[in-house]
Amino acid sequence: MYYKTEDNRLVIGNHFASDLAKEYGTPLFATDQQRLEENYRKLDQAFNSRTGTRVIYACKANTNLAVLKVLEKMGACIDAVSPGEIMAALRAGFSRDRIMFTGPNPSDRDLDFIMESGVRINLDSFTMLEKVAKRLGNREDAWLSFRVNPHVVAGHHDHCITAGPVSKFGLPTSMIVDAYQRAQELGLGENMRGIHCHIGSGILETEPFFLAVDAMCEISKLVEEKTGIDLEIIDIGGGYGVPYKPEDSELDVEDVADQLVKRFKQHFPSKLLGIEPGRYLVADTTALLTTVNTVKHTDVKTYVGVDAGFNNLVRTALYGAYHHLLVADEVEAEVKMPVDIAGPLCESGDIFLHDHPIPPLKEGAVLALLNAGAYGFTMSSNYNMRPLAAEVLVNGDKKALIREEQPLEDLFKDQRMPDWL
Ligand code: LLP
Repeated sequence: MYYKTEDNRLVIGNHFASDLAKEYGTPLFATDQQRLEENYRKLDQAFNSRTGTRVIYACKANTNLAVLKVLEKMGACIDAVSPGEIMAALRAGFSRDRIMFTGPNPSDRDLDFIMESGVRINLDSFTMLEKVAKRLGNREDAWLSFRVNPHVVAGHHDHCITAGPVSKFGLPTSMIVDAYQRAQELGLGENMRGIHCHIGSGILETEPFFLAVDAMCEISKLVEEKTGIDLEIIDIGGGYGVPYKPEDSELDVEDVADQLVKRFKQHFPSKLLGIEPGRYLVADTTALLTTVNTVKHTDVKTYVGVDAGFNNLVRTALYGAYHHLLVADEVEAEVKMPVDIAGPLCESGDIFLHDHPIPPLKEGAVLALLNAGAYGFTMSSNYNMRPLAAEVLVNGDKKALIREEQPLEDLFKDQRMPDWL
């Protein structure tokens, strides 16, 4: 589990977390640019030093434009799942050939947008193929692939398993040759350039990645044999986990890359490999900083009431996910007492941690929920009419607000009152 301290105080870049909290207010997502660059470099080198690999950032994890820009400069590509994500990637400077759309069931309106933007398209069904074919006209440059379900099951929670017999994603292996053949019948044989899978998210074991690459190599060979298509890239998706609990061990990405690439190269010594990390790149770059509003002792427990809730970070309420919590200005302490960390929302499920041992503290103390950079801000909401939180980016000594807290007025800007009221 990654964090840095100085004089027993949490630091982000070269700044004390509590100073950032005071300057920008809380709740605040505070992101360390250097850690983001480090994470990217580590994963990129682990794979690219062994075989040509396209690192495709699954931006659903964090779509802040500054975060995207850092990754754009480092050479990443983008996996986008909606028109909004495509727009974010384009705004951050990614060219359209570095963006791939992978959404399971886009609407006609989505498809019109996606086709117009000219990004790569990863098809998820026969229906989607037919709809795309109809819209392509004579766009000879269109880049297409199919998402396969390789029946390898992995992920940190049922909601985050994206393959296997009962998954809504991709085409079963039994149908995949038919799918490429149908594309050929539609005159799109030349456009079918890749094949893709994504088995799940938050995977800390290595085995599922190896099973997935083996399965994808088998399937790809079959597709090539039966159709004569020469696939340019085999994209095996993301899912690389990070430690959330102090006792979780880190995924050894050098070892994963080494074994995975060896298996890949046995089948395809010179084809391009694709990986789609989301969480691995951004999770531990960011802490959600929150201020203690109240401390309430009941007969049974002590509730530390903070100003961040599941409107800001829903992973605990939704998946039971653990986010480690530190007192920003007293990271280690001899005396600790167990408390519940409670958000401000009017729901009993708005609790980040139960019986979590922390040093005794007072109202006004700043706390940090770690690993909030992936699926933190992007899954936040306006529940209870709470505004979306601010985000700050730190780069060593430098710091800049990269998102202002949503003004309360904005909560009403899309609402309309009918004239009969
Ligand atoms: N590629 C595809 C097609 C995906 O659907 C996903 C994530 C990824 C790549 C990246 O997966 P990652 O490397 O981040 O594990 N909200 C959940 C995670 C849902 C992930 C959905 N798909 C969470 O907070 O744990």
